[in-house]
Amino acid sequence: MFLLKAPKKSDNHEMKLAGAVQISGKTFFAYKDSLGKISLKSEREEKLQKAMIKKMISLNPAIKRLLGRYKLKPNIDTKTLKELAGGHMNDTCKIAMGIYSKLSERLKSSVDGKTIKEASMLHDLGKVLIPSNVLNKPAKLNPKERAIMNIHSMLGYELLKTQGIDEETLNLVKYHHQNLKHTGYPVISDNYSISDIGVQIISTADKYSALREARVYRRKLSRIESLLILYKEVLEGKIHKDIYKALFSYAAEFDKAA
Ligand SMILES: [Fe+2]
Ligand SMILES: [Fe+2]
Repeated sequence: MFLLKAPKKSDNHEMKLAGAVQISGKTFFAYKDSLGKISLKSEREEKLQKAMIKKMISLNPAIKRLLGRYKLKPNIDTKTLKELAGGHMNDTCKIAMGIYSKLSERLKSSVDGKTIKEASMLHDLGKVLIPSNVLNKPAKLNPKERAIMNIHSMLGYELLKTQGIDEETLNLVKYHHQNLKHTGYPVISDNYSISDIGVQIISTADKYSALREARVYRRKLSRIESLLILYKEVLEGKIHKDIYKALFSYAAEFDKAA
């Protein structure tokens, strides 16, 4: 996925960060080189991750422009990236693939499983550039902080855009906070026809994953509590009923796997 020169002297191969996995409670980042060889690097290799993100920023001026709107500097928070990759993005990916596995053949054929997997694993990458006083604020965000937080999906899109990633995966990252009524963020551009099913799978998995995690301002919610909250969004027309049904039938399996 991430096409970058590895910041190592002896190595001329281009490296791709393919995602993150947890093995026995430890986080590993999976990298693929240009020969297709996969290697796992432990979460401590922050230098490599920081260098990759820095490179992405230098390749796309839109990132600094986006941050500049809020007078933010491009500070890279790799601690956040590590926590997200090991926890929330990993769980969102599991749930998204769980939802995908429970869809009818007709809906399944409208999206690509591999794209869903990659986009859900990377969806919150942009948070690596959100200041930690906003990201980890133990209280409700004020309107300015909310606006800053909301650029993380665009930042993730712009970062990944430098990596030769296909347009569909990029758009799923960009619109993972959109809903069926298109009242989420960012606003959908006129010339883009959003694949509602793909966005629905990722955004629903993202919401469910977040509800099942403890936050500084609330406890971790149970499976039933979380499903009830999301059902309200089905009634409001924000979540597709078939996506919800798929989540409903997968939710117990997620608990077993956790
Ligand atoms: Fe997000
Ligand atoms: Fe998320």
